[in-house]
Amino acid sequence: MKTIFSGIQPSGTITLGNYIGALSQFVELQDEYNCYFCIVDEHAITVPQDPVVLRKNIRSLAALYVAVGIDPEKATLFIQSEVPAHAQAAWMMQCISYIGELERMTQFKDKSAGKDAVSAALLTYPPLMVADILLYSADLVPVGEDQKQHLELTRDLAERFNKKYNDIFTIPEVRIPKVGARIMSLQDPTKKMSKSDPNQKGFISMLDDAKQIEKKIKSAVTDSDGIVKFDVGNKPGVSNLLSIYSIFSGKTVTELEAQYDGKGYGAFKGDLAQVVIEALTPIQSKYNELMESSELDDILDRGAEKARLVANKMLKKMENAMGLGRKRR
Ligand code: TYM
Repeated sequence: MKTIFSGIQPSGTITLGNYIGALSQFVELQDEYNCYFCIVDEHAITVPQDPVVLRKNIRSLAALYVAVGIDPEKATLFIQSEVPAHAQAAWMMQCISYIGELERMTQFKDKSAGKDAVSAALLTYPPLMVADILLYSADLVPVGEDQKQHLELTRDLAERFNKKYNDIFTIPEVRIPKVGARIMSLQDPTKKMSKSDPNQKGFISMLDDAKQIEKKIKSAVTDSDGIVKFDVGNKPGVSNLLSIYSIFSGKTVTELEAQYDGKGYGAFKGDLAQVVIEALTPIQSKYNELMESSELDDILDRGAEKARLVANKMLKKMENAMGLGRKRR
């Protein structure tokens, strides 16, 4: 059975973008692959976090993973900082990374632009991600489009290590969904929908209630021609809503265009809001149940234990390859 690794940062309540780009792929793939799904809290602290809020977000993300349908009997769900091998392996990967290639990462450029106090870890964020993936010998990494460049770097560093030291790493493939690889902000459809957007109207959180969802979709920026048609270049707002609609309804974009031919944006947005509400309501009730139970801690304990076994084995191989410490018989 092939292996999958992917992670999500607990840096806010996750959005429809995270769900469509990442979580829905995870649910779809968990039967066919040996899956490791991680709550990457060490990545989250590359920008300042309130410790109390971070703890809350970690638990909340764990509950959401399970609420959307990740089965902890099939997949290994765990918190990154509870498996110290990640930080240890990340150090080694930093030692074979070049500053120039890290500075070229668009996520680093975006997050550091115009800021005086940029943490060193924002630059060395990708080698930690590389370590996450390589420790589990992942064959496949399902992510949204914004992570594609980091996955290219992962392949480069794995190949560099294999050539220079010892051929121990699997070179992972990236998997990006065909529809919804990049869900855009509802307020600025040229920008990615992001959980750290200060404008709350730009994103729908997985925990928004029916009223908030309706309001956000109704106020989503479109255009003035009133035609429901997929055309990212000229109609980015409507195209984004069509992608979201298609994912949640199971209908193709072409079917939706035909359904709303001549109907205008009012009906289209109203129906889309209902479709999203219907999809999120059962997820939210399962989420609320989980947050109040101790089941979540058991799942995370078991997940960390299993992940540690696998990660520590690879860490040892990495140390041996690089000549760290002493050789043990
Ligand atoms: P993060 O936490 O920003 O996002 C988690 C996942 O959601 C996807 N995503 C989106 N997909 C479509 N449309 C959007 N608007 C959108 N916004 C986010 C992301 O592509 C991602 O798949 N560095 C990663 C976390 C990470 C990781 C890893 C991922 C750490 N280690 C190892 C894969 C493998 C991140 O910040 O994702």
